[in-house]
Amino acid sequence: MYESGSKFDKSVDARAHWQSSPWGRLRYTVARANLDTYVGGRSGLRVLDLGGGDGLESILLARNGNQVTLVDSSPAMLDIASGRADAAGVSASMTFVNSEVLDLPRSIATGSFDVVLLHNVLQYLPQGIGALPAVTAPLADGGIFSVISINKFSEPIAAAARRADPTEALNLLGESRYRSVTFDSDLTMFAAGDIIDAIEATGDFGDVNHYGIRCFSDFIAADDEKWDPEFYSALEALELASTARWPYMHTARLFQIIGRRASKDARQSRGSGR
Ligand SMILES: C[S@@+](CC[C@H](N)C(=O)[O-])C[C@H]1O[C@@H](n2cnc3c(N)ncnc32)[C@H](O)[C@@H]1O
Repeated sequence: MYESGSKFDKSVDARAHWQSSPWGRLRYTVARANLDTYVGGRSGLRVLDLGGGDGLESILLARNGNQVTLVDSSPAMLDIASGRADAAGVSASMTFVNSEVLDLPRSIATGSFDVVLLHNVLQYLPQGIGALPAVTAPLADGGIFSVISINKFSEPIAAAARRADPTEALNLLGESRYRSVTFDSDLTMFAAGDIIDAIEATGDFGDVNHYGIRCFSDFIAADDEKWDPEFYSALEALELASTARWPYMHTARLFQIIGRRASKDARQSRGSGR
């Protein structure tokens, strides 16, 4: 088993619980709406879900008529994903691969995917932003890359607003390290601008957009209220309305960056053809 898989193997139950919480549901609803602005209504896409975990997003994409390859280093996550795919009747549209995202089987690394997702994985990769060329390499010309990760600007605000601790907030200004209790891991927080700069510096991507996920929810300390259907519905409307709205994406709990890989001709005319 891969080393990075072991700590994730132990967290499958916590993960499933989190996914059904109001804040977990908001994470998936808003991310899906943003991805839909690029691929909504299309089917028959070849999708690569890197670090796809227990398969929530992969299975939705498979249900929409796409062929999905889910890669994860955790055998336990893959077991859950495969069971969920069976239950949803989409196993024939899915392939499960136990691998490190930076040591992909050749057929995937040199594949030609229409969509590559790297959702809440970048923060665990020791290579950080340096991992971006390898994880975007499997994209076809015109393919869509979506990356989600923790926004480092949100953490001091969470300390002040949720935990009412200005001293902690002061200490967290500029901090990039974060401890995940769920996954018993140290991870790295990034600013969306760093990722956008790295993606744009390759010269391979256009149509790059920055979204915020949970622009408001994490700064409402009254978590109990969020389980109330009426409150949740109002919160979801607020989050969907603010995800792409300046300046709220800059302080959201998570950032999502989506870009389209240019065609080979466009890349060559810009001098970056691979
Ligand atoms: C926070 S979960 C995210 C799962 C899914 N993408 C989502 O957003 O629901 C992180 C996942 O990445 C996987 N992972 C972490 N590091 C990895 C690596 N180096 N290679 C492959 N998978 C990795 C973990 O096993 C875990 O399933």
